Amino acid sequence: MVNNHRSQLQSFWDRLVEKELKREKEDPRKRVHTDLLWREIKRSIQKKSNLTILDAGAGFGRFSIPLAEAGHKVVHLDISPKMLEAACKIAQSREITTIEFMQGSIDDLSRFETSSFDIVLCLDSPLSFCYNTYETALSELIRVTKSNLILCVMNRSGVIAEGGVNFDLQHFGKLKTVLEVYNAGTLVVTEELRSLQPTLFPSWHAFRPDEIKELLERKGCRVERISAPGTLARFVDPELLKQLINDKEAYESYLGFEEQYDSDVYVLGIGAVGAGGLLITAAKCDRRQK
Ligand SMILES: C[S@@+](CC[C@H](N)C(=O)[O-])C[C@H]1O[C@@H](n2cnc3c(N)ncnc32)[C@H](O)[C@@H]1O
Repeated sequence: MVNNHRSQLQSFWDRLVEKELKREKEDPRKRVHTDLLWREIKRSIQKKSNLTILDAGAGFGRFSIPLAEAGHKVVHLDISPKMLEAACKIAQSREITTIEFMQGSIDDLSRFETSSFDIVLCLDSPLSFCYNTYETALSELIRVTKSNLILCVMNRSGVIAEGGVNFDLQHFGKLKTVLEVYNAGTLVVTEELRSLQPTLFPSWHAFRPDEIKELLERKGCRVERISAPGTLARFVDPELLKQLINDKEAYESYLGFEEQYDSDVYVLGIGAVGAGGLLITAAKCDRRQK
């Protein structure tokens, strides 16, 4: 990845720490998305203890910190110094000692030995932010896991529906970037685009479900599950969702149904608003790296 893109990622995510923390606390749709991801992570962990886990692009520690708190040995890697700072502060305040913080980019994991982690997580789209190095990043994530890999990437049809069409019509009066994204998946955010909307993510690649599946298989993995988490919740009234979350039993039952709905082949392709739109669990089944 060129250094310019790395520094764009750093400063972009440095600025988002507070907003991400707030969104996690206040947005019921984000809460549903988080809880769906937890169900998937817990399925991989089963009842095992003392696992070694790499959380690659771990942000403010949404998953890394509770996993370390549960006794697993966690490496929390992120490109953004401010995200690392926020996560470190939270971990210290909870006196967690089984977590190690490292700054770096997921497309260079050369500091880690092959097969050094029981589970590798890369959630809410760090892979998509490696817009021109995602193949390298994916090979690295696969190389360092012994077996399990849980990924969340941007969902191509989802991002088009979420803001793409509005962006084009507002700024160009016709479809423009959406056509590129639909065909190639990549949006290279030029200075011109950024001047139209300063809050745009740095350049990214959004995947189709079959594209990420094929890529993982080509790199020697078996895809075990794939879903578009949070799709159903995006259509539910947020106030009703808040009430549902407070009813533990009804909420658990809702999450069970949402998992089923979001994995339906007719639903794959959308995903939550403003969060990783495709969730994939894969197992490394041979040692080939291509
Ligand atoms: C939406 S946040 C998700 C954080 C965390 N994985 C979660 O699910 O809560 C995306 C995170 O990926 C990090 N990130 C983006 N590109 C990265 C890269 N190339 N290498 C490492 N971290 C990256 C950002 O700094 C940010 O903290």
